[in-house]
Amino acid sequence: MKTGFNALFIPGPTNMPFRVRQAMDVALEDMRAPDFGDFTKPIFEDTKKVFRSETGQVFIFPGSGTGGWESAIANTLSPGDKVLMSRFGQFSHLWVDMCQRFGLDVQCIEVEWGKGVPLDAYEAALKADTRHEIKAVFACQNETATGVTSDIAGVRRALDAARHPALLMVDGVSSVGSIDMRMEEWGVDVCVSGSQKGFMLPTGLAIICVSQKALAMQSSARLPRTFFSWEDMSKLNADGYFPYTPATTLLRGLRASLDMIFEEGLDNVIARHHHLAEGVRRGVLDGWKLDLCARGPEWYSDTVSAILVPEEADARQVIARAYERYNLSLGTGLAKVMGRVFRIGHLGWLNEVMVAQALAGAEMAMRDCGIMVEPGSGVGAATEYWRTATGNTMAQAAE
Ligand SMILES: Cc1ncc(COP(=O)(O)O)c(C=O)c1O
Repeated sequence: MKTGFNALFIPGPTNMPFRVRQAMDVALEDMRAPDFGDFTKPIFEDTKKVFRSETGQVFIFPGSGTGGWESAIANTLSPGDKVLMSRFGQFSHLWVDMCQRFGLDVQCIEVEWGKGVPLDAYEAALKADTRHEIKAVFACQNETATGVTSDIAGVRRALDAARHPALLMVDGVSSVGSIDMRMEEWGVDVCVSGSQKGFMLPTGLAIICVSQKALAMQSSARLPRTFFSWEDMSKLNADGYFPYTPATTLLRGLRASLDMIFEEGLDNVIARHHHLAEGVRRGVLDGWKLDLCARGPEWYSDTVSAILVPEEADARQVIARAYERYNLSLGTGLAKVMGRVFRIGHLGWLNEVMVAQALAGAEMAMRDCGIMVEPGSGVGAATEYWRTATGNTMAQAAE
């Protein structure tokens, strides 16, 4: 029998704060009660703050991030519409696949896995599109499969440099609430997220934020939509209700999670994620002397690190060993990088000592599998960084 907690270090679902769990330990409730809107309406407004949107609108669907993707497409586009995308990991691939299944005309730029959204290529494609046939530009802010973060402000600059009116659609599933997302400032039109990552909840909600420009696209968009219709949702949301049964328990959890994010301060949450991620990177690069899948610091993700194992090793064995022997869940390598990487998710409700568990467990599992990293080297490099890093919000909060 395994004792103790399963140390959950996959990049979502993440470990859930006790406060969020307790907030959901409630009786099921009447979603048409006269006072239900008093509870839900502030949630829409507060969720918007996490996306740093002032003029946008939040939609909360029962579902997951994938449903959010579908909602973004179906409410704004028509069959045959041209869209500009890039593929550099399993999640950017799946969004491309979805657009193709919706019958969109996808112009997809292939990028080496380990890099992210190709800004120059985007700008060139947009400048070349003088007739403005491209209706939407897609960008995966944080490619969870490879631990790569892309520059969304840069995508906005590319659009502006080309004076192109296309919508900017962003996958923020593993970044919103953990890595900076500035919808208003960066002119993001749809940003998609899910409940089980930065929002620290169980899976079960697609959480998206939509600009007025994207909302206006509904009148011309001819793709069919029912469950994910913004129009149906908006009508009922105006009074705090939903067109079908909402996930009331998860909304109770979301209320607690938003309260926690604002009590810590969104800027501090983002800074904490950077601080924890930087320690993990010290552990991997300086301690273990291994490489990250991300091809350079400009791509490093503050929510997930994909760690390349030596050529002769199989990362799947490390992941299995970590789980079976040490009760540690690491993220597996997906598709092209299966067997080549294991991933440490470092997002959500975490502190330094918690993240040190993942490094310690991975270190033991690697050595058990013949990857002879120096014992204690990853933990040592990370903890020395965490202990001495100046100006980090975790140290400030404790003093
Ligand atoms: C970047 C990214 N996009 C989309 C998804 C799909 O989200 P979900 O699994 O919640 O449907 C994920 C899931 O991990 C993801 O990491």
